[in-house]
Amino acid sequence: MSDLETLVRDLDRLEQIVASWDQTQQLTVQALREAVESIQKEAFRRIIAEVKQSPDGMAALREAVGDPWVYSVLQFHGLLKPPQPSVEERIEQALEAVRPRLKSHEGNVELVAFVAPDEAQIRLTGTCNGCAFSDITVKLGVEKAIIEGVDEITKVTVIEGRAPASADGVKGSPFAIPWEDAGPVTAVPAGGVIATELDKASVLLTQMGGEVKAYPNACAHLGMPLEMGEVSDGVITCSYHGFQFRLDTGECLTTPEIALPSYPVRVQAGRVQVQVTT
Ligand code: FES
Repeated sequence: MSDLETLVRDLDRLEQIVASWDQTQQLTVQALREAVESIQKEAFRRIIAEVKQSPDGMAALREAVGDPWVYSVLQFHGLLKPPQPSVEERIEQALEAVRPRLKSHEGNVELVAFVAPDEAQIRLTGTCNGCAFSDITVKLGVEKAIIEGVDEITKVTVIEGRAPASADGVKGSPFAIPWEDAGPVTAVPAGGVIATELDKASVLLTQMGGEVKAYPNACAHLGMPLEMGEVSDGVITCSYHGFQFRLDTGECLTTPEIALPSYPVRVQAGRVQVQVTT
């Protein structure tokens, strides 16, 4: 049996051949393809709806989607919801947005717990803990960031007490997404791309306008590696089917409905660090 990449390459070659035919022939092939795809999509939709009915169906479905063949086909038909980070992960992302301002005052914040269905419990650390202005910090900074960033949360409660000692106060949270070392910043080409393997994902790094950006090294079309794509004027063209993505935003210029999600990035002591959030 051929492997997935070989078959995708075959499809790519066939598409190029069809593209060289006259318009009537191209339209006929397109109509044929759309008819077959519509039948397949509806069949898969019905199978999924049926499988979800049984008590173990969702677990079996999740396992099946871990198979790259199943994943590619369901994604192609738009039958996969993009993976949603957990509530805790989204609270952490919201806290990450306010941490630079807290840290500029040598303070910090950590997530103590998400209490379902709608409460986030946090703790102020460093100089923010016990500060006379901590109410303002919470109301205008932390609470606002969490409630605006996480739909489920309507209430933020400050838990008093000393935080466990940690180097920067961030590691005290059990839900913190780890920063992974992605190599020296000097290895990341300005206006180009480099792929690097991290614990949970292959990551595509680039420097655009002096800022390091990180994306999954997987095309948002069918998940093929993006690293061989050609880069020109800040746009990468996937080498498989030519989908194009802006490297500064991840926006897809070919199909605006899809985009490359970006990972949080920071540079510390000349090293790039990435949070693989999905
Ligand atoms: S996998 Fe199809 S364009 Fe990238």
